Amino acid sequence: MLGPVILAASRSDKMRRFVSAAPGTKQVVARFIAGETVEQVVPVVKEAVAKGLEVTLDVVGEDITTREQAAAARDAYLELIEQLAGLGLGTKAEMSVKLSMFGQSLEGGHELALANVRPVVEAAAAIGTTVTLDAEDHTTLDSMFAIHEELRKDFPQTGCVIQAYLFRTEDDARRLSEAGSRVRIVKGAYKEPASVAHQDKAEIDKAFVRVLKILMEGDGYPMIGSHDPRLIAITQELARSAGRKLDDYEFQMLYGIRGDEHVRLAAEGHRMRVYTAYGTDWYGYFMRRLAEKPANLLFFLRSMITK
Ligand code: FDA
Repeated sequence: MLGPVILAASRSDKMRRFVSAAPGTKQVVARFIAGETVEQVVPVVKEAVAKGLEVTLDVVGEDITTREQAAAARDAYLELIEQLAGLGLGTKAEMSVKLSMFGQSLEGGHELALANVRPVVEAAAAIGTTVTLDAEDHTTLDSMFAIHEELRKDFPQTGCVIQAYLFRTEDDARRLSEAGSRVRIVKGAYKEPASVAHQDKAEIDKAFVRVLKILMEGDGYPMIGSHDPRLIAITQELARSAGRKLDDYEFQMLYGIRGDEHVRLAAEGHRMRVYTAYGTDWYGYFMRRLAEKPANLLFFLRSMITK
């Protein structure tokens, strides 16, 4: 019951101000956010790679309101890619981006987001890596998939995300299951109406498995973004029965969540990519992590009281 309330609060400016100023917030945020600056995140990337993990880097931020902020988001990713260039990590360090941060919801936003994300995808390709377009709320997805298709004409390795809770996703999975495509499947983290998305956890899990099956039996490269032990076991089973080798798909988990499992799966020979978020505009990202697990909220409230 708490999840939807927290997700509603994730869009409130009043709550943003309250949470940002609360005592103890920084300490809890640090569990999920790897640093505030590119200088702070680079050692985190090196440490992950040294443990046999791979990363996808997210400069946190979304729902910006001016074209200048959208350009600043583009520049933040370009700065990150410049820093990664010297490390020679190739696809071990890729990028994840939210198109709303690149101006998608502003006037003329579709074209603006495409214009801002293209140089990021180009710069990533120039250092031998790639970009995945995150999936945001359902009203943004037609534009996201169109931008994905456009980018893939020049950069076929550009990935995208599909969300199991949406009714549309099985069709999207079939469309995206072609050779060379890279698709991350996740349960979905936004507050969506019952007209477009499953609301029941068990229904979402069943939908996840149906989509997973489509991806595994297809010709693309599935990226499984989940911490759910049951879905991880099902992924391994479906991959085996589809005749996929360990490097024909990958697991992805979030920085700060089930860290032991990251290392365990990598030690078993799986490709394990850690979604590593950093930056100062962490509010929306942080609130979605609280919504996923109410125990996080209790921990957060306790840290406010004990400060
Ligand atoms: P579930 O929520 O059932 O969690 C399974 C177990 O994992 C829990 O029991 C708990 O142990 C642990 N866990 C999960 N979340 C936790 C948390 N916040 N804190 C502590 N423990 C937690 N969504 C989206 O809409 N668009 C996107 O682009 C992405 N991108 C993305 C990338 C990657 C790499 C991941 C892993 C996830 C996303 N998501 C996302 C988020 C996704 O939609 C979903 O909300 C979370 O992954 C939680 O769902 P699980 O599959 O982990 O299962």
